[in-house]
Amino acid sequence: MSNSVEGRSIIVTGSGRGIGRSIAEGLAAAGARVVIADIDAATAEATAAEIRSSGAQAIGFAANVTDRASTRALIARAVAEYGRLDAMFNNAGIAQVKPFNDITEDDWHRVMDVNAMGVLIGTQEASKQFIAQGGGGKIINTASIAGKQGYEPLAHYSASKFAVVALTQAAARAFGKHRINVNAICPGVVATDMWKLIDKGFKDEGLTQRDNEAFEGFSADILLGRASRPDDLVGVSIFLASEGSDYMTGQSLLVDGGMVLI
Ligand SMILES: NC(=O)c1ccc[n+]([C@@H]2O[C@H](COP(=O)([O-])OP(=O)(O)OC[C@H]3O[C@@H](n4cnc5c(N)ncnc54)[C@H](O)[C@@H]3O)[C@@H](O)[C@H]2O)c1
Repeated sequence: MSNSVEGRSIIVTGSGRGIGRSIAEGLAAAGARVVIADIDAATAEATAAEIRSSGAQAIGFAANVTDRASTRALIARAVAEYGRLDAMFNNAGIAQVKPFNDITEDDWHRVMDVNAMGVLIGTQEASKQFIAQGGGGKIINTASIAGKQGYEPLAHYSASKFAVVALTQAAARAFGKHRINVNAICPGVVATDMWKLIDKGFKDEGLTQRDNEAFEGFSADILLGRASRPDDLVGVSIFLASEGSDYMTGQSLLVDGGMVLI
């Protein structure tokens, strides 16, 4: 039983930057053939080009995870390029900081559409492809510590990440008979553009006074003594996309340096 992803055809959504980019780079460096999918076509192409320049295999593709036709086209592109699909990382997500009583219906729908419905569509379309190939396959969703605990000024974001955990469990039950593993990764506080936006959101809402205050505050009690870097998520991603995790499904793994202990 190995943890190799050598030659595996893998899509990572939201991989033009941040955690998704790091996961895709790590998978490619380990020998996977990756598709860099992002709503931002320029970052998708730039990331893919950089991976190719290191000698690994990557293509960029502009895709919106909230759009089923776009997700279908993404999977078709991966299959056209690499002959099959072995793993789908539903990683794209957005965040918004707002006090609980200020969250509007529009805020709710926007965050839920990308973070939860995007995972639903990605899981449905990837599983159809896996079943058409004869079964087997890996679905790895990016949830969050906010999928394990509700955070007050991120209530709709937290709800969307609890939804990701629920979808992970439900899909594991739906597709176990096809030998499709469905698991999720729950990162903690990761230094990406998303956290810059969250930190600014805390300040704009008057919840903190200075730049980085929220980031530092959330990171202060991490047992391993520092905030996360995107590449902290690479090891678990390789494992969940490899044969080594073949007997594991429906799990949402906290990879947060020790923030939420449950
Ligand atoms: N940064 C953190 O601390 C943290 C913690 C826990 C979970 N997460 C989750 O990890 C994932 C990645 O977060 P990140 O910090 O790298 O964020 P990021 O904002 O740096 O990157 C997200 C990427 O997703 C893309 N994207 C957004 N909407 C999209 C859509 N509709 N279709 C396709 N692509 C889309 C963006 O263009 C961007 O490239 C998200 O699901 C996020 O909720 C992040």
